[in-house]
Amino acid sequence: MMLEIESVDGYYGKSHILKGLSLEVGDDEIVALLGRNGAGKTTTYRGIMGVLPRIEGRITMHGEDITGLPPDEVYNRNISWIPERRRIFANLDVQENLEMGLTDRSERESRFQEVFDLFPRLEERLDQQAGTLSGGEQQMLAIGRALVSHPDLILVDEPFEGLMPTLVDDVADALAKLAEGDVAMLIADQRTEETLELADSAYIIENGRIVHSDSAAGVASDGDLQEKYLGVQ
Ligand SMILES: Nc1ncnc2c1ncn2[C@@H]1O[C@H](COP(=O)(O)OP(=O)(O)O)[C@@H](O)[C@H]1O
Ligand SMILES: [Mg+2]
Repeated sequence: MMLEIESVDGYYGKSHILKGLSLEVGDDEIVALLGRNGAGKTTTYRGIMGVLPRIEGRITMHGEDITGLPPDEVYNRNISWIPERRRIFANLDVQENLEMGLTDRSERESRFQEVFDLFPRLEERLDQQAGTLSGGEQQMLAIGRALVSHPDLILVDEPFEGLMPTLVDDVADALAKLAEGDVAMLIADQRTEETLELADSAYIIENGRIVHSDSAAGVASDGDLQEKYLGVQ
């Protein structure tokens, strides 16, 4: 296993949010983390990235304990995080945004080329101010910035949030292309169908607990399960 989360409890102050949460992501595996708003998806990412105020349990990456390590050290373990609402630098251009993700400047050319092969549109817009890109292009830039550090694992939080339907397809295609490469992903989103289409396996989270895990196809074909845990209430 690449990432293993074992019986993790996570807190904001006195609020006990993650409750005995366990999940695994294998090498090159695409894993969906599904759950309603407030279920604990973002908190799970914060726990992995070392930005949750208090965490108990154990998180390992390639067998190495990373529980509670500060974010830069987690990043150095080849984990990259694309936060909610694609926090790109709106006032910087595309090139400058990508440079922010570089860990090794000497590899700039080759790393950038990999991103451009995946997202040719970013190469066409290198000098464009990132804030003026479409929502879909901004998401591609956020993914590109995560990618230039050559992560083994990318944590993607709500990639489809707030996108127009046509752009949802663009971002889904971009993530599908990325998924073909040798990178693992943990993708959290409320768009169940699109997320499961990308994923190999899936976990459902509710109130900070994993309530179901299965193959992505298994969850995709179980309407009752989706209604129970993911349907609109
Ligand atoms: N900074 C915070 N302080 C206290 N509670 C928080 C904080 N951030 C999130 N929460 C609570 O943690 C729970 C899980 O939130 P979150 O992980 O953001 O859910 P999701 O990403 O699945 O929508 C929610 O009940 C939310 O209100
Ligand atoms: Mg969230």
